[in-house]
Parts: sequence; C-alpha cells; structure tokens
Amino acid sequence: MGNSFLVTTAIPEPGLGLLSNAGRVTVLPEPPDYESLASLCASGDFDVVLTQLRDVIDADLLARARVRGISNFAVGYNNIDVGAATRAGILVGNTPGVLTDATADIAMLLILGTARRVVEADKLVREGRFHGWEPNLLLGRNVSGAVLGLAGFGRIARATARRALGFGMEVLFAPRPPGDRPVSEGELGEFAGKVRQVPWEELVERSDFLSLHVPLNDQTRYMVDAGVLRRMKPDAILINTARGPIVHEAALVEALRNGVIAAAGLDVFEDEPRLAPGLAELPNTVLLPHVGSATVPVRAEMARLSALNAVAIAEGSVPPHAVNPEAQA
Ligand code: GLV
Repeated sequence: MGNSFLVTTAIPEPGLGLLSNAGRVTVLPEPPDYESLASLCASGDFDVVLTQLRDVIDADLLARARVRGISNFAVGYNNIDVGAATRAGILVGNTPGVLTDATADIAMLLILGTARRVVEADKLVREGRFHGWEPNLLLGRNVSGAVLGLAGFGRIARATARRALGFGMEVLFAPRPPGDRPVSEGELGEFAGKVRQVPWEELVERSDFLSLHVPLNDQTRYMVDAGVLRRMKPDAILINTARGPIVHEAALVEALRNGVIAAAGLDVFEDEPRLAPGLAELPNTVLLPHVGSATVPVRAEMARLSALNAVAIAEGSVPPHAVNPEAQA
C-alpha cells in the first residue's frame, strides 16, 4: 500500500476505486495551474500523476518531476512532452480504443448537423419563429452522395468512414497528412474497394466535408490554414473532432465569414475553452465543448484504463497502454 497517486481532476468510477485499492489517492479540489502541478510533481510525494488534457506536462516540469509516470485520461497526449518524459525515464499512459466509436459518432453528428443546419433550426423553434411547414425553410445539403474526405486513416477515421458509408457518402482519405504514405489493399481491410486514397492536396480540393482525424504534433499544427481553406470548395464544410490547433481558427473565422467555405462543425478549439473572436456569432457553425468521448460507458472505460495504467506504473511495470514503453530502461 505504499503507492501514491495524484489525480488532477476527479475521474469517474471504476477509476478512483481501482486507484484506492492500490494505494493512497489525492484528488485535487480544482484543476491545478502549471506552477502548482509542477511543484506537486517535484515534491516526491507521488508515484504517478493522473492528468487531463488541460494539464501541461512540458520538458521543464518533467526535468524537475520526481514521479515514475504520467497516466493521461485521454487517447491524445499532445499535452505531454513524451520525448522529455522518455529521457527522464517517466512512463506515459493513455486510453486508446475505448472512445473510437463515440468520437466517430460526434464526427457524424457534426456532418449531419452542419449539413442540415441543426443549430439554426433549433434556435428558430425556440425563438417562436416556426410558423408551420414551408417549402423554403432552412434548406440544407444532402449528405448521401457527398464526398467525405478523411484527413488521417486511424481508428477514429475508420469508424467515421463506416458510418459515412452507411449514409451513402463517397469516402476518400489521405492517410497521414500533410505527408502522405501509401496504404496497401491489405491494410485497408474491410474498406478495400469502398474508400479511396488520394493525396492531401486532392482531398482538400475534392471534399464536400473535410473531417480531421490526425494527432496534434509539429507536422499537423495549422495543417488547415488560410491557404488550405482557400483551396477547399466554396460550399465545403470543415469538421474537426481531433485537436483545435490543427486548424488556424482565426483564418477559419475569416473563411466562414467571407464564404470561402460554407460551414464548420467543431468539437475542439485552438485555445480551449476560449473561441477565436467572431466564431460564436457565425450561424454557419455547430460548436461543441470537446465531448467526443463524453458518454457514460466510455468515460468509465477511460477511467478504468487510466487507473490500470497508473497502478501498473506505480508497481514497476510497463502500463497496458504505454505511449513510451522505452522509458523503462
Ligand atoms: C480526447 O480528446 C482524447 O484525446 O481522449
């Protein structure tokens, strides 16, 4: 029972229960700022820190940290400098797999919601402006027959492709933009003959809906900037359920305002929880508060995986979902 866990923000069961069975658990009453978290990590009081996406775990913090590991309550880990963690011998865990379908559901929801103008429609009804069926009321776009371009072809992109094919969309993908790599027929698996790989430039130009499914890193930051937005079709719709900084949000606001593209469905923002000035006022957007994985069962599974990762690290093993197993020399 010598293990000690720091949890920066309370997570659902069975997470806290699993941690409590394995050691002492400290749950912070409110999310820590950078300096407080850095001091707690440097204190030597904790074996493992269970973090959230908003906890910035950078090289400076890691250089001072006296912990064995960081267990991130997320599949993405762009908040952690994994290279620096590895150099410091600090293991990092994440929660892959369990949130794939839920996040793809949100991508599909944003595709449908932008195409059929759900926010404008809901607002109209609530504001008492629905005066009965009208031939020209809130006309939207067809999803069936439209081209869905997937930037990335990992788990969440594939789950989105599965849904889109069910809706009769034509699905194209660029596997790991902005640098492309060929995907073999074998790798395509169930999608062979159903989806087609194109270069990133062509994806940008041909998509009616361009949906982002790449991790945030130095290659993908601002992958969708003013130049890319200009190359999209004027009636194209951008969907982002990945990470905000993949899109230059101020450029997106300009593009949406000036008809460079038609609409955007966003679950993530460049500087969460802040929005780029003007974004919230645009009617041609559907904006969600980063809820891709927000279902009761998925959050419970994320809690379970992040706790299992934390317990394994505290007990001296490589966690079941290690981002950097090589950190344990
Ligand atoms: C959420 O954005 C995650 O990475 O799990």
